[in-house]
Amino acid sequence: MDTELLAVRRINAYYADSHVLHDVSISLKPGRLLTLLGRNGAGKSTCINAIVGFLPPRSGSVMLDGAALEKCSPEQISRAGIGLVPQGRRVFGSLTVRENLDVAARRQTPAGRRVWSREDVNQIFPRLHERRDQLAASLSGGEQQMLAIGRALMTNPRVLLLDEPSEGLAPQIVRELGNVLERLKSEIAIVLVEQNLGLAMKVADDVVLLNTGRVVFSGSSDDFQAQQAQLQSHLGVS
Ligand SMILES: Nc1ncnc2c1ncn2[C@@H]1O[C@H](COP(=O)(O)OP(=O)(O)O)[C@@H](O)[C@H]1O
Ligand SMILES: [Mg+2]
Repeated sequence: MDTELLAVRRINAYYADSHVLHDVSISLKPGRLLTLLGRNGAGKSTCINAIVGFLPPRSGSVMLDGAALEKCSPEQISRAGIGLVPQGRRVFGSLTVRENLDVAARRQTPAGRRVWSREDVNQIFPRLHERRDQLAASLSGGEQQMLAIGRALMTNPRVLLLDEPSEGLAPQIVRELGNVLERLKSEIAIVLVEQNLGLAMKVADDVVLLNTGRVVFSGSSDDFQAQQAQLQSHLGVS
């Protein structure tokens, strides 16, 4: 049996009294890219926040390679191997590109895990190398997104979570991002939150579709596309 790498099981999450995620389950296998879809406010970022420990679920479990994470701190979850590229990128604007990568670097990573060096990141994003001494705030939106991905890779993750990385980027840059994700998915399992359906369908193996905090579709990208007409009402405009 193909074992799961990340197993989110029936999580429920709340903002104070507001019940936002209802029994959400996500299953990510090694070497796969799963896209989490849904219109604005569907609960995609909340789901990411629940996985990385910013908003611990009130019930349900989050397992990484069999280890329970749902009661761990964000720092422990990051060390366990979940890397986050947050919505809105949030690079350190007053640090240089190189410094942004260096502050994310892990000094210790358990044996057997892929260790990313700045050189590895520069190979995927040559422009980051060209701009290494520039302040991150002076980069274009696309370059900041690349830096945010590079920074997450420097934590040596086993699973990479990206929350709407294409938001606000020009079509040409979104295509470049698609190429980067294609390349990365051969090296690391990925959960990609997207509103850009074109990008999501280009790279996804699996799809989970949320509507008002509930899973309304979970399956392969082929099955999703076969049912897309019926699912269209749950998707945002893109
Ligand atoms: N910090 C918060 N406090 C209270 N409600 C929130 C907060 N963040 C998001 N919500 C609500 O939770 C729901 C899901 O939001 P979110 O996960 O950000 O959706 P998405 O990422 O799919 O656009 C929305 O109804 C939103 O208004
Ligand atoms: Mg969001």
